[in-house]
Amino acid sequence: MDKKIEELKNKIEEAKKGGGEKRIEKQHEKGKLTARERIHFLLDEDSFEEMGMLVTHRSTNFGLDKQKFLGDGVVTGYGTINGRLVYVFSQDFTVLGGSLAEAHAEKIVKIMDLAMKNGAPLIGLNDSGGARIQEGVVSLGGYADIFYRNTRASGVIPQLSAIMGPCAGGAVYSPALTDFIFMVENTSYMFVTGPNVVKTVTHEEVTAEELGGASAHGTKSGVTQFTAANEIEAINQIKEVFSFIPQNCEEEPPSLPYEPADEIRKELNEIVPNSPNQPYDIREVINGTVDADSFLEVHKDFAENIVVGFARLAGKTIGIVANQPAVLAGVLDINSSRKGARFVRFCDSFNIPLLTFEDVPGFLPGTDQEWNAIITNGAKLLYAFSEATVPRVTVITRKAYGGAYDVMNSKHIGADMNYAWPSAEIAVMGSKGAAEIIFRKEIQNADDPEAKLKEKDEEYAEMFANPYNAAARGYIDEVIVPDKTREKLIKAFKMLENKVDNLPKKKHGNIPL
Ligand code: HXC
Repeated sequence: MDKKIEELKNKIEEAKKGGGEKRIEKQHEKGKLTARERIHFLLDEDSFEEMGMLVTHRSTNFGLDKQKFLGDGVVTGYGTINGRLVYVFSQDFTVLGGSLAEAHAEKIVKIMDLAMKNGAPLIGLNDSGGARIQEGVVSLGGYADIFYRNTRASGVIPQLSAIMGPCAGGAVYSPALTDFIFMVENTSYMFVTGPNVVKTVTHEEVTAEELGGASAHGTKSGVTQFTAANEIEAINQIKEVFSFIPQNCEEEPPSLPYEPADEIRKELNEIVPNSPNQPYDIREVINGTVDADSFLEVHKDFAENIVVGFARLAGKTIGIVANQPAVLAGVLDINSSRKGARFVRFCDSFNIPLLTFEDVPGFLPGTDQEWNAIITNGAKLLYAFSEATVPRVTVITRKAYGGAYDVMNSKHIGADMNYAWPSAEIAVMGSKGAAEIIFRKEIQNADDPEAKLKEKDEEYAEMFANPYNAAARGYIDEVIVPDKTREKLIKAFKMLENKVDNLPKKKHGNIPL
């Protein structure tokens, strides 16, 4: 027995070495952790149970029979984060560049199936040269097996992906199918085709970092939701997101203890400027309303004219979608609609109540927007809110103009409680634009057209630049003093705690894509 135990210990030692000391050193030199180190920092101490440590590939192509590594380039298993079960795979770049083929994919598939059957989140740590070139088509099959499961698991269990090295070609589509992507600056990149192919096809000269680094995806493409300066920061971001979300679509998100206190927030009375054209930062409203230091912004540097993220209100997780008057006056455009819609759908999938702060002048005009389908993209946000069955509350802080009023979680599309501050302006459009249209002839024929326009502008503003017409029709449930916002929201979400609302029976909807 002693000899057999020794043999087992040797195998475990061998597996833990991955691609060997030299390659591990090289990994560290690049500022990257190894697959096992990443798991160590991600999970609770000693909670990781590895599965498939002794798996090897079965290929003999191109000398692979002499290049067998225990584990086949991916560490898989389960463990806990703050005591809660998660399944993890972590690709080992030191083994054949973390490349994916038959056995590597089978290991990932195995834990994906367990995650689904046991209703626990899946976390993927990606660091791979893509399909293992020597193994050929089985690598493609392996990817497709994973994509299929990512799709089936979508909306059932949360799926989080971190990109901690290369992620290129078709390999990008597994992270793309998951709920949140975390990316590390300077040591990771994601693209469908790399700089060399780009140069050949389009003659553009671009580095890997410029083309598909963390900053490109965090600010330009919107493919990723979180950017980190290093791997430890990315791992901490994953844990932070994890603290807000439930294990699966049947469970409630975790909550923290909460002691009722004086919930009046006087500072909220001072945020909205007197002039309707002056900007302010909606984050001041968010932070002034939610539990102290609880707001975690998602998709922070992309489409900054809308702000989305998780927070806690009286200890409970909520999802926030807020127009940002400090950027492009908070206008809705293609990217902000996509960003908002995706977040709303995540929250609705996982029983996270939605809070909307609204200050929106409308949709962004222009050929760029129209030709790139603001119609279809704006409809995504409308669809996402309309479809959401979680508790939904809206606070209009200032402008709620035009179609954007309808879209931003209005009463008409199923919001449960709609509040407005006295500074709210709920109208078809801004008063000057409205006056120019409906009093056009009168203004043209006036002795002093400018004075006439001003007079009519004021007349229209007097009638509509307020919340009272909407309140008179019950579109607004209550006009509230800003300092009472937190108190009102705590009560409203408590009242909605047991909300049951079901969509009509259908196979699935057809969200405008
Ligand atoms: C087999 C691979 C590999 C791969 C890297 N390696 N990628 N082995 N298949 N796809 C091996 C290398 O041979 C090397 O082995 C080790 O991993 C480290 O690679 P290096 O090149 O030394 O590392 P680095 O300089 O950091 O460059 C990393 C890299 C480069 C940029 C990822 O390795 C690369 O370009 N790889 C090929 C990428 C690729 O074309 N993949 C296929 C994409 S198509 P040794 O033994 O020297 O340590 C795809 C389709 C998926 O993925 C489709 C799904 C639908």
